[in-house]
Amino acid sequence: MSTKSCVVLFSGNGSNLENLLNKRDETKDKLNYISAFTDNAEAKGIEVCKKFNLDVIVSKRDTIHEDLNKFLLNNNPDLIILSGYMKIIPELIVNMYLGKIINIHPSLLPKYPGLNTYEKVIENNDRYQGATVHFVTKDLDEGPIILQGSFPVREGMTKAELVKFTHKTEYIIFPIVVEWFAENIIQFKKGKIYLKDKLITEPIVYQVNVTNDQFI
Ligand code: GRF
Repeated sequence: MSTKSCVVLFSGNGSNLENLLNKRDETKDKLNYISAFTDNAEAKGIEVCKKFNLDVIVSKRDTIHEDLNKFLLNNNPDLIILSGYMKIIPELIVNMYLGKIINIHPSLLPKYPGLNTYEKVIENNDRYQGATVHFVTKDLDEGPIILQGSFPVREGMTKAELVKFTHKTEYIIFPIVVEWFAENIIQFKKGKIYLKDKLITEPIVYQVNVTNDQFI
């Protein structure tokens, strides 16, 4: 199997990026992280890239889409990982790389696309919260779902706790999907997802145990 190449786009802390890079040796024969791109010169994720010797392109906000287009053409990646990338990617670019772009979103999609997901979970007294990894299509947070991680919301859970548990959930599910991609286990064909050649009709949900030590 040939080695695939991937790039990561981020805008902020880069904790998911760091988690992925911490695990990159597990898939190193199959997936090569070649470069990263950010729209935010202040992003903490830039330090993460430095720590792991990953090249990072910092774009100026007014040329962001041209810079991104150039970045992707130069790198020609097999996989584009959106890891807290807060800019909407133009439809033209999305369509050029359809089936190659994955995103992580801090809610159980289709619930709560967009921003302020934690506030909405609290407002609506939701019993479950989690994160979703999905393929990116032209509609925001609406592409086919690859994998979700879900945990029960305990009574009185604060926003800070929800954020913490959601991130922990992300650190579990994002590397799984990246590995599936590296191993050719998932495929995107005509808007549908196949796992080991089997059509996925319902999202696969990983139940995360919040009482487990991993959440302390
Ligand atoms: C994550 O919660 C992710 O779901 C969302 O942005 C956040 C990025 O966090 N898209 P980090 O930069 O990986 O810490």
